[in-house]
Amino acid sequence: MNREHWATKIGLILAAAGNAVGLGNLLRFPSKAALYGGGAFMVPYFISLILLGLPVMLLEWVIGRYAGKRGHGSMTGIIGLFFNQASWARALGSIGVAIPVLIVMYYLWIESWTLGFAVFSLLGAIPEPVNSSDPKTAMEPYVSFFRNYTAPSIWAGIFFWITLAINWIILQRGVARGIEITAKIAMPALIVMGIFLGIVSLSINDGRGLEGLKFIYNLNFSGIRDPNVWIEASGQIFFTLSLGMGAIATYASYVKPKEDVVKAGLFTAGINEFVEVIIGASIAIPAAFAIFGALAVPELAKEGTFRLGFMTMPAILMSLPFGQIISFFWFMLLFIAALTSSLALIQPLVAFFEDEMKWSHTKAVTVSMLIVILGAHLCAFVPNFLDELDFWAGAVFLLLFALIEIIVFVWVFGVDNFYRELTSDTSIRFPKLFVYIIGIVSPLFIIFIGYFWFSEKILDVLQETDPYKWMARLFILIFLVFLMALAVVSRKKVLEGPRI
Ligand code: ALA
Repeated sequence: MNREHWATKIGLILAAAGNAVGLGNLLRFPSKAALYGGGAFMVPYFISLILLGLPVMLLEWVIGRYAGKRGHGSMTGIIGLFFNQASWARALGSIGVAIPVLIVMYYLWIESWTLGFAVFSLLGAIPEPVNSSDPKTAMEPYVSFFRNYTAPSIWAGIFFWITLAINWIILQRGVARGIEITAKIAMPALIVMGIFLGIVSLSINDGRGLEGLKFIYNLNFSGIRDPNVWIEASGQIFFTLSLGMGAIATYASYVKPKEDVVKAGLFTAGINEFVEVIIGASIAIPAAFAIFGALAVPELAKEGTFRLGFMTMPAILMSLPFGQIISFFWFMLLFIAALTSSLALIQPLVAFFEDEMKWSHTKAVTVSMLIVILGAHLCAFVPNFLDELDFWAGAVFLLLFALIEIIVFVWVFGVDNFYRELTSDTSIRFPKLFVYIIGIVSPLFIIFIGYFWFSEKILDVLQETDPYKWMARLFILIFLVFLMALAVVSRKKVLEGPRI
């Protein structure tokens, strides 16, 4: 079976940028930055970007192209490639298929809220603003609205199914006709809306929003000794760049054989960081600073990622002239960002069924969507499921799997082989030293962060008493074992199939 390719260079870049740019940039980033001290968070953030983000981004692009030429686009087949498709290697690689799918299960539920809130804003169906500078009073109606909506309500259900259907339809159309065309329309719209909202937020209250931007860019070293800040900053880099999830490598597997993947990787990271540290930094925090003041912002962030985006933001935006329209733009911005990422998070499973199980495209998309829909409903209806999946798949597994990727792609493949792949068909030449940074510095960094994480959190994890959280853990385990079993069963098909 011939694998698909991206139709155009610009389409490839926009799709890859859409893969990375998501709720992580516009919701998760401002919340984490506010919670961990603004400029104090940004120092470990930028160090993680250079030492982890960029190296692993290029690693996934280079290996994705290499594996795509050999007929593999999911981590099952990609890791397998380096071990003659041994069963254990395919099973190990399947962790990299499970991660994006587990993430997208909760991601879609949140994505559907953004669509619902956008439509409600436009129709004037979200609460009228309360004129108060006290954040609690001003946000009161929006907090109740959010709680009622996500309870979940019938409307939440409707927008949820619409969101699932949109994702299904686009994926069914395929890589070039579905994902690429969506990105070509969505990404320019996202940048324009993002810049517009940034300008609005920074100018609220005669430019008081600028203080919020200063808070983020007041770079300082006060967080440098706090392991928690490092864990959160590096976790943010992985999440926002879609690394350690296999999602970038899957997209890279659809490039034409001689595509310049180094350039594509740098563009992906560059556009993502532009949308995160310029646009993302200029919207929610500055708006909250301008209306509620410096002291209130970290307090709001403590209430979780959703507080700032779904309660604080509409409370602020609705109080502006043309509030409904501006609020609509905000939620539409989130929806577009989320949609292009959710497609990228499901595609590894589609690639797994197509490349490894040799299923037709329609069958692969149908089964993938049914699995995703089952998990997404658990996240929507079972308490704490969302948090638990986010904790494991959206944080812990990412670091773990990135470590596996580095060991296999640099050390098992070989430094020279990897360097040859990195430097072929590109005009950008990295010195060989760069491979040693990927192979030595990045993994040491991950081990260091993993060690702190383990010593801080392991007791809490083991002593968990919430039955729903244990249910979520069981679900993760069953899903992993299921994918691993398929990876082993499909081995024969892959080895017997025509060599590409
Ligand atoms: N990278 C995607 C995001 O930032 C998953 O939301």
